[in-house]
Amino acid sequence: MKILLAISEVHPFSKTGGLADMAGALGKALAHAGHEVRIVTPLYRGIREKFPAMRRVEWQFNLPLGAKWEQGNLWALELEKGLTVYFIEHPGFFDRPGIYQENNISYADNAARFIFFSKCVAQLARYSPWRPDVVHVHDWQSALVPVLMLHQKRAEGWGNPPPTCLTIHNLAYQGIFPAGAFALTNLPAEFFTPDGAEFYKQLNCLKAGIVFADAITTVSPRYAREITTESLGCGLDDRLRQRRKQLFGILNGVDYGEWNTTKNSFLPHAYTVTRLAGKAANKLALQKELGLPQRKDAPLFGTISRLAEQKGVDIELGALEEMLSSDIQFILLGSGSSVFERGYQKLAKRFPDKVAVRVGYDEGLAHRIEAACDFYLMPSQFEPCGLNQMYSLRYGTVPVVRATGGLDDSVIDFTQDTMRANGIKFQEYSARALAKGIRKALAIYGQPELFRRFRQNAMRADFSWEQTVGEYLRAYDAAKVFSAGQDSQTAGRVP
Ligand code: ADP
Ligand code: GLC
Repeated sequence: MKILLAISEVHPFSKTGGLADMAGALGKALAHAGHEVRIVTPLYRGIREKFPAMRRVEWQFNLPLGAKWEQGNLWALELEKGLTVYFIEHPGFFDRPGIYQENNISYADNAARFIFFSKCVAQLARYSPWRPDVVHVHDWQSALVPVLMLHQKRAEGWGNPPPTCLTIHNLAYQGIFPAGAFALTNLPAEFFTPDGAEFYKQLNCLKAGIVFADAITTVSPRYAREITTESLGCGLDDRLRQRRKQLFGILNGVDYGEWNTTKNSFLPHAYTVTRLAGKAANKLALQKELGLPQRKDAPLFGTISRLAEQKGVDIELGALEEMLSSDIQFILLGSGSSVFERGYQKLAKRFPDKVAVRVGYDEGLAHRIEAACDFYLMPSQFEPCGLNQMYSLRYGTVPVVRATGGLDDSVIDFTQDTMRANGIKFQEYSARALAKGIRKALAIYGQPELFRRFRQNAMRADFSWEQTVGEYLRAYDAAKVFSAGQDSQTAGRVP
């Protein structure tokens, strides 16, 4: 099958979070399963210099963006057999210090930047000699592609466009812009209605994807259920309920080629489930690196995160406040809201022997924290999938998570299965509930046999992509069936 993936960030080229990891890994996994995959993504600052093997493609985009015309170039890099990444070059839009924002402020022209990107994707899907069998878009940044394609089919003579699939990685980010931004799509006004891209008189890119994509997936089965409810539906739950038959919850896989404890240049010491000495050595090395007392016996907790409300940062700060009177150590790597950054930094100042905080983004340190810690804290308010808890499992770092979204789907608590338990879950969103989870962790830590079993179960948990690929292929089939059904009906989704 020929699959075109459109994604606004892709590891190892660009990354702000799990989206990039998932994009890179899904592309690889589909290619390894024998499919032909092309990923299309913006050419952000610095990528070309880091990947000099990239080549310019004979292709020019010249696309209307409202009243103006915008030009772009195309670059390509073959990553491996069956997997090529296309980069859209538009220096005005993408050659900037940030991907979506700078100093925590979103770029004012994000609508223009990603509508342009979406138009480039539709153009490639339509005119490239390599014709995709499915166009798979991700999150709001490319969620307008299905409606752009549909319009070209209905009104601009695109005979037989491929079906489209939208993956929602996080419903809380919808790409909402003032109504005037709709003009940048150059779509007819009939698409800007409450049954289309309009959301309370504004343009909502993700909603357009939910209405017009042939199939919709999200990144865990539980989150697929949650987003059809009012409490986690972010105002779009009714739209999602309408599309329930085409909505699939598919848990992300892990790229174990990147996230492993044996062949990993970021880790000073390798280890395996049966030879854990390297893990203890990584703990001592990280304590030294971050200026904490080198103590083998002190239970070490860690978090690596965007510092946003979603991640449960407020309850983590509250729970730590309570728990730091115990003999524990805690390490944070994160960046985001300055209020939260300051909150952790204050904690580190007050407890210099117990807390180490690194504000910023550091891939190597993220691996070292996963490898060094005994427990990983992830108390999210909501979590579509979450990757760090799965990385923690593989690294033998027992996750303490709130039972929501993909966290609930990927971690097994003692109350669910005493023999297979690999983590600790709590339900209520409160500092008290998290503190109780931490106390349970300490109780397990105090029983070496039990702790060993948790750790072994964790390291043996398998979230490899092989199975996941099959689930995406089923979603693509469903998209095909749905799109064929739409063809045979006069009353389609078009307003
Ligand atoms: P989300 O995408 O919602 O931020 P995920 O758990 O899906 O959450 O993925 C987060 C990814 O981003 C992981 O690969 C994690 O290691 C990485 N990450 C988050 N913050 C940092 C940071 N400050 N430094 C390095 N990596 C980070
Ligand atoms: C989003 C979600 C996260 C998920 C990631 C990859 O960033 O917040 O839960 O793991 O996308 O799908």
